[in-house]
Amino acid sequence: MKEDLLSEIDSLANRFRQKVSAVSSEHEVLKVKSTYIGREGHLTLLMKKMGSLPSEERPVIGKNANLLKNEIEKICQEQLEKIRNLSSLSRLQQERVDITLSGRTTACGSIHPITQMMRNVLNIFSEMGFEVYEGPEIETDFYNFEALNFLKDHPARDMQDTFYIDQHYVLRTHTSPIQIHVMKSRTPPFKVVGPGAAYRRDSDVSHTPMFHQVEGFMVGRQVRFSDLKGILTEFSRRLFGDKIKTRFRPSFFPFTEPSAEIDISCVICRGRGCRVCKQSGWLEVLGCGMIHPAVLERVDYDPKDVSGFAFGMGIERIAMLKYGISDIRLFFENDVRFLSQF
Ligand code: DAH
Repeated sequence: MKEDLLSEIDSLANRFRQKVSAVSSEHEVLKVKSTYIGREGHLTLLMKKMGSLPSEERPVIGKNANLLKNEIEKICQEQLEKIRNLSSLSRLQQERVDITLSGRTTACGSIHPITQMMRNVLNIFSEMGFEVYEGPEIETDFYNFEALNFLKDHPARDMQDTFYIDQHYVLRTHTSPIQIHVMKSRTPPFKVVGPGAAYRRDSDVSHTPMFHQVEGFMVGRQVRFSDLKGILTEFSRRLFGDKIKTRFRPSFFPFTEPSAEIDISCVICRGRGCRVCKQSGWLEVLGCGMIHPAVLERVDYDPKDVSGFAFGMGIERIAMLKYGISDIRLFFENDVRFLSQF
């Protein structure tokens, strides 16, 4: 009995050593461990049998069995640690961060060139004491046309140019109705600039159905054409630079009398003549004039008592002149390669 058990312990030890030397995962180690010293393990069962041995034989068998049990526990523990170390090492290797890779910068947005130009223009007029007033984009026929002295058969009222919402409402075709809103609600004197979108049925390299304008006007006692000239000459210099020359050319608008258009010397060729200025040396930048007495009467002002000047400019057009852009549609396509240049 004693010899049998001793040799069984020996052979268990041999089998265990063989098995445990071939394991490669945590799971396998635990399986081998429980095969020998788990609840139903070979060695566990053998140790249970010891109870039936005569008491003098128990110590030798017991000692050997315990030695083997300790060995199994120790070796399994060592194997587990080895395997765990290996797997965390290989994970570290796999997850290694390559700190030699150069960083990626995030693109930073910028203000749209039309918004920039709008702000430039408004800033210049604010510095000269003008207030900013915004009117509605949907206007009645009265504000958009009639109060501005457009005769009933004026071509600008034609369906070709104007987006009609219904018989009474239109998308404003210009920012000039802002003049009417302000004059109807205020008493002179005042100096106002009115920025905003305007709409016309028109589309080519220099026209889009929606575009931006800034309207400006000054009303009071004895406001003269020389005031208009001084302010707009100063404005052109501040926007386009000191070297720019201006010229006032007679023109016609129903709501001003006399009317003029302002040209600046060509920013591309400095007046020598080029493709942009069509060899004339001049670029047209805005329309202006003295507010027509009929318009003043429409808002219940007395033309003998007050006078005023007004002007209006297209922001896209001014931006095109300033930056030498030949197609207005670039502003609306929002291609970042274009926008990031401003
Ligand atoms: N409203 C005109 C247009 O859209 C521009 C304009 C011209 C405005 C002369 C004015 C002005 O105030 O005096 O073409």
